[in-house]
Amino acid sequence: MNPMPEPSLSVEDYRALRDIVATTAGLDLPTEQRTSVQRRLRDRLTLLGIESFTEYVRMLRYDPAGRVELEEAVDALTTNETYFQREAYQLRAFRDEGLPLLAEQAQGRRRLSVWSAGCSTGEEVYTLAILLLEAASEPSSPLHGFDLRVFGSDISKRCLAHARRAVYGTSAFRATPPEFRKKWFVERPDGALVNERVRQICQFGHLNLLDASRAVVVGRVDVVFCRNVLIYLGTHARRRVIDLFHERLYPGGLLLLGHSESLLNVSTAFELLHLREDLVYRRPRGREALS
Ligand SMILES: C[S@@+](CC[C@H](N)C(=O)[O-])C[C@H]1O[C@@H](n2cnc3c(N)ncnc32)[C@H](O)[C@@H]1O
Repeated sequence: MNPMPEPSLSVEDYRALRDIVATTAGLDLPTEQRTSVQRRLRDRLTLLGIESFTEYVRMLRYDPAGRVELEEAVDALTTNETYFQREAYQLRAFRDEGLPLLAEQAQGRRRLSVWSAGCSTGEEVYTLAILLLEAASEPSSPLHGFDLRVFGSDISKRCLAHARRAVYGTSAFRATPPEFRKKWFVERPDGALVNERVRQICQFGHLNLLDASRAVVVGRVDVVFCRNVLIYLGTHARRRVIDLFHERLYPGGLLLLGHSESLLNVSTAFELLHLREDLVYRRPRGREALS
């Protein structure tokens, strides 16, 4: 008996799927990625016992179970690549020039809150927590004695489960020196577990960045790291996400994007701050600072 032919994703169904995913998560799936999307979603069809993409799209649109399945579809379509100390030059610039500015602004509160928006499996969150703990450990540091917090959010529940588990294999350490792993992790048979001191200041939450009303759970923050997320979003979604960051940041707070991302044609609400090794965005203090 011949095996069942694998379902293929027609141009029409792909168009419908792109619309659904863009509206829900802001993802801008390129036209030429139809085959790759087809490959990524085939397992979902098999699991659900659905024989065609037309039926799958119909389910996403009209079936009561479609809402839950849409989360799975979006999860399967996101790119979750990440690792510890990614874009080290930017982290250095933040530590040496961004942090002192923020510490000065937050002296009254003596609390510093960082948001890693689109944190994937958590490496960025723990990288930032370690950076903060190291910086604050110097008795002369303006951060000394501060309450430090790092909040990581992502649309992928699968990634968040990994982030909360906090156990990592070799590839997560591809850009770090061996001392980093030795100092901040506990070795276990299944990988390296982030140590308790670091985990204590980190928290994770499920959040679609297009869902501004739910983002209040983040509270106000001093800095947003949203690196390598905007590149996957359409223009309209980018604008909404940037508006959200603007709203969540304290006046004078910083926004750091990935090296290939910028606010060009997206927003003029931020000012550009030239650090020695990097360019970052800042929510202007202006009159709002007084309010
Ligand atoms: C390539 S990872 C970036 C991870 C990390 N920021 C870094 O730079 O290494 C992009 C992440 O953005 C998340 N993402 C994409 N669209 C999102 C949305 N609308 N809301 C929340 N997270 C989203 C994806 O699930 C994915 O984990």
